[in-house]
Amino acid sequence: MPSPWIPIHDLPSFVDREVTLKGWMYNKRSSGKIHFLQVRDGSGFIQAVMVKGEVPDEQFATAKGLWLEASIILTGRVRSDERAPSGVELSVTGIEVVQNPVEEYPIAKKEHGIDFLLDRRHLWIRSARQKAILTVRERVIWACREYLHNNGFLLVDSPLLTGSIGEGADGLFEVEYFDLGKAYLAQTGQLYAEAAAAAFGKVYCFGPTFRAEKSKTRRHLTEFWMIEPEVAYADHSDNMALQEGLVCAVVDAALAHCRKELELLERDIPALERIKPPFYHITYDEAVAMLQKLGSDIPYGDDFGGDDETLLTNQFDKPVFVECYPKKVKAFYMKQHPEREDLVLCDDLLAPEGYGEIIGGSQREDNLDLLLARIRAEGLPEDSYDWYLDLRRYGSFPHSGFGMGIERVVSWICGLQHIREAIPWPRTIYRLNP
Ligand code: 4AD
Ligand code: MG
Repeated sequence: MPSPWIPIHDLPSFVDREVTLKGWMYNKRSSGKIHFLQVRDGSGFIQAVMVKGEVPDEQFATAKGLWLEASIILTGRVRSDERAPSGVELSVTGIEVVQNPVEEYPIAKKEHGIDFLLDRRHLWIRSARQKAILTVRERVIWACREYLHNNGFLLVDSPLLTGSIGEGADGLFEVEYFDLGKAYLAQTGQLYAEAAAAAFGKVYCFGPTFRAEKSKTRRHLTEFWMIEPEVAYADHSDNMALQEGLVCAVVDAALAHCRKELELLERDIPALERIKPPFYHITYDEAVAMLQKLGSDIPYGDDFGGDDETLLTNQFDKPVFVECYPKKVKAFYMKQHPEREDLVLCDDLLAPEGYGEIIGGSQREDNLDLLLARIRAEGLPEDSYDWYLDLRRYGSFPHSGFGMGIERVVSWICGLQHIREAIPWPRTIYRLNP
């Protein structure tokens, strides 16, 4: 009977059993009579030891000529080994080469420049580091969905092709849409989430969103994934409480399930363990005063740049809510502050250690006249908002919501230098391939 095909991840339960592995060779050392093959199969990594005399001679010779990333099928016996990271090794009894690469694998073990790696992203994702990051990403997404589902939210996805501008006229990708003129790639699903909140109370949408801004920072992608909860009858402070709960649930899940990955990424784990409620709160006014004291030249009334956010978050060991920005730097749909006409009831949640904005949220303007005035003041095409204004015509209701950028959160939790590693196929102004 052939030995069973087992994923590397499950091998610790197969000690002393004969198994088959199907994967790729990611490294190799040889010492005359022994080959040490480092093998990965997507589920994990293992060392396979091939001793001359324990496999047919021609197989031993074949293994000697293997190049990195040769696809191979191994049979062998699982041995427990305390020195191995997974606690097991494979003693090889047979090897079948599916393909020895047609030429040398381009990504060597040495350091490569970032552009070299991004050009080979389709190969780079095979590395242990990229696997760790994408595993954390999956956990972050899973934790968001679980938290919202368990708290009574209904997933109501929004369209990616839309006729109404979600955030602002700058930064739109346009597409020709048959006889109907221009469509835009969605900057946000929020306007649809607001309609869904009137129908179902607590909702969220989750999908890719697009920004054609020419930002070249370590925080910006042109395509990123955003999770956007929207809650009927929730006000500005309910909104921040939900953000705090969601962020804590996500960090807890990463710590509980991705510790090995965080260690591999050399993340400062105690810094993540500090992420517990309550988070800090400051107003925009206080934030500007604080920044000016720290030496920033930001004038009152401007939005924060990346450097300001870094400066600000370095003052806090936990996330900080910055509340109530000037109306003129925020989107048209935000509710006017009840005591300060120049401000809106919004918040940006900034992650510590210099990471900056991970969430943007607000209470929404529910007054028909004020909202219409904002749409007009921003010069937005009024016609395409007619359906959105219906939400203020038929049973208008106080409501709030926010958007959390998945890649920003993954960058922070993994401690990445740049957001481009937090998504499998990054899209930036310079990159459309692979
Ligand atoms: O602050 P933003 O622009 O808010 C909205 O789009 C709202 N309509 C969301 C809502 O209230 N439903 O974006 C929200 C979050 C940011 O805090 C950030 O985490 C992420 O989306 N984000 C980006 N991530 C990567 N690259 C970019 N260019 C991003 N722009 C925003
Ligand atoms: Mg924002």
